[in-house]
Amino acid sequence: MIGKGFYILLGKHWAIVNDFKLVFTKRIISFPKQKTLYSNARYFLPMGQFLLRCVNDGALQPQYALSCTHDHSLLRAEYRSRQIRPGDAPGIWRFLDWLPVEKAFPGFEAGPVTYKSRGLARELGLENLFIGFNGYWPEREARLPTCSFKDLEAAPTIERLRERGEKATLVLASAGNTARAFVHAASLAGWPLLLFVPEKALDRMWTVLPNGAGMVTMIAVRGDYYDAIVMAEKACSYPGFIPEGGARNIARRDGMGTVMLDAAFFVGRIPEHYFQAVGSGTGGISAWEAALRLRGDGRFGDNMPRLHLAQNIPNAPIFYQWKGLPAEPTRADMFDDVLFNRRPPYAIPGGVKDALLETGGDVYGITDAQAQQAKRLLEESEEIDILNAPAVAVAALCQAVQEDRVGPNETILLNITGGGLARMKEDYELQALPPLATVRSWEDAAELLEEKR
Ligand SMILES: Cc1ncc(COP(=O)(O)O)c(C=O)c1O
Ligand SMILES: [Zn+2]
Repeated sequence: MIGKGFYILLGKHWAIVNDFKLVFTKRIISFPKQKTLYSNARYFLPMGQFLLRCVNDGALQPQYALSCTHDHSLLRAEYRSRQIRPGDAPGIWRFLDWLPVEKAFPGFEAGPVTYKSRGLARELGLENLFIGFNGYWPEREARLPTCSFKDLEAAPTIERLRERGEKATLVLASAGNTARAFVHAASLAGWPLLLFVPEKALDRMWTVLPNGAGMVTMIAVRGDYYDAIVMAEKACSYPGFIPEGGARNIARRDGMGTVMLDAAFFVGRIPEHYFQAVGSGTGGISAWEAALRLRGDGRFGDNMPRLHLAQNIPNAPIFYQWKGLPAEPTRADMFDDVLFNRRPPYAIPGGVKDALLETGGDVYGITDAQAQQAKRLLEESEEIDILNAPAVAVAALCQAVQEDRVGPNETILLNITGGGLARMKEDYELQALPPLATVRSWEDAAELLEEKR
C-alpha cells in the first residue's frame, strides 16, 4: 500500500521528491555501502534492486518510468550489485542481479547461449569467434520458445508487469518476431496483450503453446510496421491499456543485454567486437549497456566492445543517418523485412548514436545478395538454420574480415538473433495464430476495441 502510494507520488511530483532523495516508507531499503555503477552517491533504493536514472541529466526517476520528465532521454537501471553473481535459476534468470525483476518467471526457462565457432571461424580465418545463438537448437541447449532473442525481451517485461501488480493490458506493435515472443510470454503468464501486426507479418505468428494464445488480442493492420506502431500508440490513450515502451523499456534492454553477459562469462572477458543486425537498434544499446556494467564489475576487462551494427539496404535508416548519406527510397520486398524501423531511437541521449560513438562502432549497409550468401555460409558451416535478419549480421562480419576491420585473433561476438525454426519444426507442431480482424484504419481498430471493452 505504502509502496504504491510512493510510486503514485513519484509519478506526479517527481521533481520535488527528487530534490529530497529520501522518502520515508517502510519498503525502502538502504544500501549505504554499495557503490552504484555510474556514481558514488549514496541513494536509497525503492523496493527493487536498482535505481532508474536519466542518462542525460542524471535525474532519478520512478521505477516504472519510461522517459525522463525533463528531457525524454533514455533511462538506465543502476543495479545494487556492482558485481554480478550468476544464480541457480534457469536460463536468463541466472542474471537476475542485472535484470529489473525480483524473481524468475515460472514456465520460462530459456536463456542466451554462447559457443565458440568452428565452422564459420574456419571459413573466415578467425581464431576467437563466439556465437551468441538465440533461437532453438537443443543440441546446444538453445531453447528460446519463439526462435529469436525477442524472447529475452518479452519474458522480463511480462515478469516486471506481474511484479508491478497492475493488471493493465499491454499494447505492442511488431513486424513479427517481437509479437511472437510477447504472445508466448504473455500467454504463459495469463497476461492481457493487445497486438498490432502488419498483415504481411501474419505468417510469422505461431505458437508452440498447447493452449494457444490465452488473453492475446491480435489485430492485423493493412499497412506496414509504422502503421501498426501508430495504432498501438493510439490504443494506449484508452484507460486500462499501457505501452510496452520499446527501446525505453529497461526490461527489454537488460533482457537483451544478457546475450553480452552470457558471452562475457563464457569467454571470460568483454569481447572486442560485437556484430548484430538492427532495426530499432535496441540490441546495440543493450550490448553497450551490458558492457558498461561488466566493465564496472571489474572482472571482465575494461574495454568496450566495438559495435558493428548491420541493416539491409535500402530500408536502413540507421545506416544512412550514421553515414550522413541521403536515404534511398525504401522497397517493399526485401530479403529481410523485420529490420525496418522508420523511427529508431537514434539521436536521443543514450540511444544508438551514443552507443556507436562510445564504443567506436560502425554501421554496415548490406544488400539482399550479400545477406543471402552469408546466410548460406553460416547455415552450411555451423549446421543450423537461421532467420534472415541475423544473416545481415553475418554479412557484416564477412565484410569486416575482408576489410581488416577485425583481426584474426581478436575476440568477436556474433549475435545470431534468431534461428532454429526448421529445427523446431522437427520437434513441435507450430500452431498458426489467427488475428481477431484485419483493419485498414484506426477508426476500424477503435470500433473493435470498443466492442471488446
Ligand atoms: C531476428 C531479429 N534480429 C534482429 C532484430 C533487430 O532488433 P533491434 O533493432 O531491436 O536490436 C529483430 C527485430 O525485430 C529481429 O526480429
Ligand atoms: Zn533527464
